[in-house]
Amino acid sequence: MDIDISLVPAGKKHVLRNMLELYFYDCCEFDDEEDSLELNEAGLYGYRYLDYYWNEDDRYPYIVKVNGNLAGFSLIRTLGHEPLTFSISEFFVMKKYRNIGIGAAMSTKMFELHKGKWIINTPIKNITAQHFWRKAAKNASLGVYDEYLIDNGRRMEWGFDNSGCCGINAK
Ligand SMILES: CC(C)(COP(=O)(O)OP(=O)(O)OC[C@H]1O[C@@H](n2cnc3c(N)ncnc32)[C@H](O)[C@@H]1OP(=O)(O)O)[C@@H](O)C(=O)NCCC(=O)NCCS
Repeated sequence: MDIDISLVPAGKKHVLRNMLELYFYDCCEFDDEEDSLELNEAGLYGYRYLDYYWNEDDRYPYIVKVNGNLAGFSLIRTLGHEPLTFSISEFFVMKKYRNIGIGAAMSTKMFELHKGKWIINTPIKNITAQHFWRKAAKNASLGVYDEYLIDNGRRMEWGFDNSGCCGINAK
């Protein structure tokens, strides 16, 4: 299996825009009263932060291809610089490619590329993502991570620092 993870150039922004629609369709099953995804008049979710990934520094849009086929994406942003803190804004593996290690390959690469403090959270209803991020946080931090509820128990969050771990430097 050939797994290719690379930054999306601005000229391919539309690919991410299209795949984000699939992601939000998946994620709307984790809606709650305070956070509800709805289609706009055009029948799309849209993503108001998309342009920021090319217009602002410290945002990183990655796409994953499996054997040359689009299989998912990972949108990373920084939350602060003192200390340098990264966060996963959106993270998606297409259903066809789930449970075969693509998400793990992608998160491992994210943590290799970006060293510092990490904060990741997911809706409390997203049990699969909780299993996934707990394991990813454990691996990336060599077991030294925090797990706690935020937003009045609506989301589970993980925090760790991987700056001391092996790997290449952030771009
Ligand atoms: C969460 C998601 C990214 C996982 O991607 P994936 O490619 O299927 O995950 P992997 O195959 O790499 O699994 C890695 C580990 O996560 C855990 N995991 C993944 N899916 C799981 C599930 N349904 N139940 C329990 N554990 C699970 C497993 O521990 C697995 O490791 P192991 O089986 O080798 O021990 C994927 O299900 C997805 O895109 N979901 C919809 C969008 C989403 O929820 N994104 C996250 C938003 S924060």
